[in-house]
Amino acid sequence: MNNRTILQADKISKSFPGVKALDNICLDIRSHEVHVILGENGAGKSTLMKILSGVYTPDEGVITMNGKVVKFISTKQASEIGITIIHQEFNLMPHLNVAENILLGREPKNKFGMIDFKQLHKQTKELLDRLKTNIDTYELISELSVASQQMVEIAKALSFNSSILIMDEPTAALTDQEIDSLFVVVEELKSSGLGIVYISHRMEELNRIADRVTVLRDGAYITTVNFKDTTIPNLIELMVGREMTQLFPEKNIKMGDTCLTVKNFSRKGFFENINFELKSGEIMGISGLMGAGRTSLGRALSGIDRYNSGEITVDMVNMNIKSVREALYSGIAYLSEDRKKEGLFLELSVGDNIMIPNLAIVQNAVGKINFKKSLAIISNYIEKVHIKTPSHKQEIRFLSGGNQQKAIIARLICRPKVVFIIDEPTRGIDVNAKYEIYRLLFELAKSGAGIIMISSELPEILGISDKVLVMAEGKMTALLKNDENLNSATIMGYATGQFKAMENIK
Ligand SMILES: Nc1ncnc2c1ncn2[C@@H]1O[C@H](COP(=O)(O)OP(=O)(O)OP(=O)(O)O)[C@@H](O)[C@H]1O
Ligand SMILES: [Mg+2]
Repeated sequence: MNNRTILQADKISKSFPGVKALDNICLDIRSHEVHVILGENGAGKSTLMKILSGVYTPDEGVITMNGKVVKFISTKQASEIGITIIHQEFNLMPHLNVAENILLGREPKNKFGMIDFKQLHKQTKELLDRLKTNIDTYELISELSVASQQMVEIAKALSFNSSILIMDEPTAALTDQEIDSLFVVVEELKSSGLGIVYISHRMEELNRIADRVTVLRDGAYITTVNFKDTTIPNLIELMVGREMTQLFPEKNIKMGDTCLTVKNFSRKGFFENINFELKSGEIMGISGLMGAGRTSLGRALSGIDRYNSGEITVDMVNMNIKSVREALYSGIAYLSEDRKKEGLFLELSVGDNIMIPNLAIVQNAVGKINFKKSLAIISNYIEKVHIKTPSHKQEIRFLSGGNQQKAIIARLICRPKVVFIIDEPTRGIDVNAKYEIYRLLFELAKSGAGIIMISSELPEILGISDKVLVMAEGKMTALLKNDENLNSATIMGYATGQFKAMENIK
């Protein structure tokens, strides 16, 4: 393959108040290759990508494109010279439909200069077909799942005909099947000559797509290597600055009594007849493909959505959960998979984001807030969860994606609960921070909580659960003890319907 250099970034530096996000970074992007950028949360990956795509201008450094020095001050200019980015946090208009989003501002026009809607839907349908998704181009973005929104972002990027495509954690919200089709597309784009810059915290993906890898640590350039000349443990070591022999902490938790019983639990059109018991100290993973009903189940258990029939018993008490408030009161807390939509107060500080939903724990009988106590809790959790921020006062929108996620986890766990339901807790989180989060979950379990973890990452389901509930098309197809005999093939077998649902769980 003819790998010519398309873009060269030289000695790039960028600071924000209180943070040197990038210090003297060099990077070259070649045609016909996937160049992976690795680094922990807050290492500077997204900042570097935003500089290459015109979102930020660098404080120092030069970018050359096809041998010529280029300067751009907007994403529009960058896309005009052939660089497009799919951001880590989506950039879609929720009230517009899929087609309008993909070709926003570039809609095909008819001879009267009006938008040609037929063409608009035809062209965007073709792009989506290339990604092998059957998303309806007339659907509103706000109606789509996170995964589908991600696919729309990708389709939008494809529509630019770029020579460089930057993907900032494109698979964080996708299921294995969707990732497979994405990688087919990436291969296709690569062989057509594009240079792809790819960021992911899912290390196992490197085996499938990485040609070269650049490692950043704390805003500094560490190295660039050919993937075939290195190993994943080696790259992890370069990334975190120390050897990591284990990806999961040791688990040594004694289970107690049953803390949650769910019987014949159904929500019409979403899931039906779910049955399980959870013990205090136990971690139950929920596995399944996109649309299997995992998130719907979590939402109904935590009072966000109504259920039609079934019974929930928390600590032996029968509960009729009709709202989030009732769920919290019963002792059930929930972490949403979609942090931007349901979780973060973007304009507020890291500290407020942790404390606001938890004020009850720092208020006295007449509602007066004990600020000293509040600050102590905030500081403790910033340290415990390793949130990288110049201060607790920093607005949360300025934190890197992974660090925002850590703040939400801190918010969830700083208040004792009987059952924690967490949906995709480590999405977008680096290997080191994942380890820390697993350790925190084990601590919660050790303190007596029961934990339900919904996750699309099979390694983590297998790495930390005691048992695994598998769902397919709204039904529970297996409840499996996580012992040495359990592997991802078995879970996938039940998740895809390749194995018949287990008899004893119905
Ligand atoms: N607009 C901004 N204002 C202030 N600080 C910022 C801003 N953007 C990024 N930062 C800071 O710069 C550093 C690098 O952030 P960046 O988002 O590039 O990290 P990242 O490597 O992409 O991390 P992640 O894996 O979590 O996405 C972080 O400390 C972050 O808090
Ligand atoms: Mg990032």
